Amino acid sequence: MTGSNPEAQRLNAIAAAIGCRNYLEIGVATGDTFAVVEAPRKTGVDPAFQFDISAASTANVDFFTGTSDEFFAQLDSSVSYDLVYIDGLHTFAQTYRDFCNVLTHTHDRSVIVLDDVWPTDIFSVIPDYHRAMAERFRTGVPGMDWHGDVFKIASAIHDYHTTLSYATALGEARPAMLVWRAPRRDSPRFRGLEEIERQTYLDFLDRLDLLNAIPQADAIRLSAAPARAAGSAR
Ligand SMILES: C[S@@+](CC[C@H](N)C(=O)[O-])C[C@H]1O[C@@H](n2cnc3c(N)ncnc32)[C@H](O)[C@@H]1O
Repeated sequence: MTGSNPEAQRLNAIAAAIGCRNYLEIGVATGDTFAVVEAPRKTGVDPAFQFDISAASTANVDFFTGTSDEFFAQLDSSVSYDLVYIDGLHTFAQTYRDFCNVLTHTHDRSVIVLDDVWPTDIFSVIPDYHRAMAERFRTGVPGMDWHGDVFKIASAIHDYHTTLSYATALGEARPAMLVWRAPRRDSPRFRGLEEIERQTYLDFLDRLDLLNAIPQADAIRLSAAPARAAGSAR
């Protein structure tokens, strides 16, 4: 049942649209999303699963206990995923590294989904979780939102990955970025990665257009276009 989990509903809509057979989730936590994503083969990666993975493992569902870096370091180069959900450590440095690793384990019809690309305030972008919460407490600003500086990935994908297209899906679920293989003609907006890394929350607000935010149904339809063209979509 994905009724109360709009993020999982979105993943299942993408999975159905591309005919997903092999799903990877980086950052699984309690497995609330992982458990309800529908795919014939599923792999979850987390250094600290919050459920009994031995009870949940089957011939077609496996778990790697460790960081995403450790997972990719041991992954056979022949392994390829149709749908990947990147929802691990909420820092730009780690998320971008996850993304680059995922690119070598995906194919022309794959879709990559990135969570935490749309921070909600200046506290949510602090990359250190404990510092983010401490600053909220100190200043009396309520909430628990924490996205880290993952938002910078939109700039990195925009400038450094023009063979990929992307859109940020807006709907009932938290905004998430969908990435698929299709060339773009965009020109770089930044002098380099250092300028991308230096961006603040205010820079994020000034450059919202970099997100390519569109209704979720449109983002899913666009991301599934390569699979539809190849005849592998349902
Ligand atoms: C936001 S939670 C994931 C939520 C889950 N995807 C869901 O939808 O229910 C983030 C998870 O990332 C894990 N994590 C932290 N650092 C990680 C790393 N370097 N590699 C992989 N996972 C990591 C944490 O242990 C945590 O369980």
